[in-house]
Amino acid sequence: MFVAGTDTNSTLSEWMMAELLSHPNEMKKVQEEVRSVVGNKSKVDPEDIPKMEYLKCVVKEALRLHPPAVFIPRRTRATASGKLGGYDIPSSTEVLINVWAIHRDPKWWEKPEEFIPERFKNSSTEFQGQDFHYIPFGIGRRGCPGMSFGVASVEYVMANLLYWFDWKLPAGEAAEKMDMTELYGLAVYRKTPLHALAIPNSSF
Ligand code: HEM
Repeated sequence: MFVAGTDTNSTLSEWMMAELLSHPNEMKKVQEEVRSVVGNKSKVDPEDIPKMEYLKCVVKEALRLHPPAVFIPRRTRATASGKLGGYDIPSSTEVLINVWAIHRDPKWWEKPEEFIPERFKNSSTEFQGQDFHYIPFGIGRRGCPGMSFGVASVEYVMANLLYWFDWKLPAGEAAEKMDMTELYGLAVYRKTPLHALAIPNSSF
């Protein structure tokens, strides 16, 4: 419970911030949305979050490119009738569903390697529906039980970070040269930890 509920959220937040830092236009857009929804309350209320449509798209896109759990394990209960992808699959075969590859499959996604949160605008693709090309929380009855909590936490934390601070890369680091290498462990982390400068929101 604790491992599944902590590393996933923290690595997703770090990836999301890294993508925003390397995409200044998207950073500006999401920050403007967060600040205009919150207004001058000096506090992000949980009720503000449903109004942040673009933030939700950014979370979805970060989860598409950087699903914290890349392999979903399953075991076949019976021998598959007929061949699957040209192979006979006997019963009790352990299958690892490659979420990372599915999320970058050009059959389903236009410009799959690019960070484009807008692709989720007016889209019916949800976290755990019948969209088998988008499965960041797994599928079926063994799907992630912490999905709603996970999404709500990341949205709320990120909305606060974007509301209270402007974000910059340290001097000498260029957005287009950020190292986005992944490191596979319990979740998929950034190989190079993200360093970012937090500058207090000057409008207060
Ligand atoms: C962004 C956040 C999260 C992501 C991307 C994520 C993703 C996943 C994935 C892909 C699975 C495997 C599902 C499957 O086999 O079909 C899983 C399982 C699980 N997750 Fe999450 N998760 C997140 C947050 C959380 C949180 C916050 C909790 C609890 C507080 C949690 C608890 C669990 C547990 C207990 C399982 C194992 C379920 C089982 O095997 O029956 N997760 N998660």
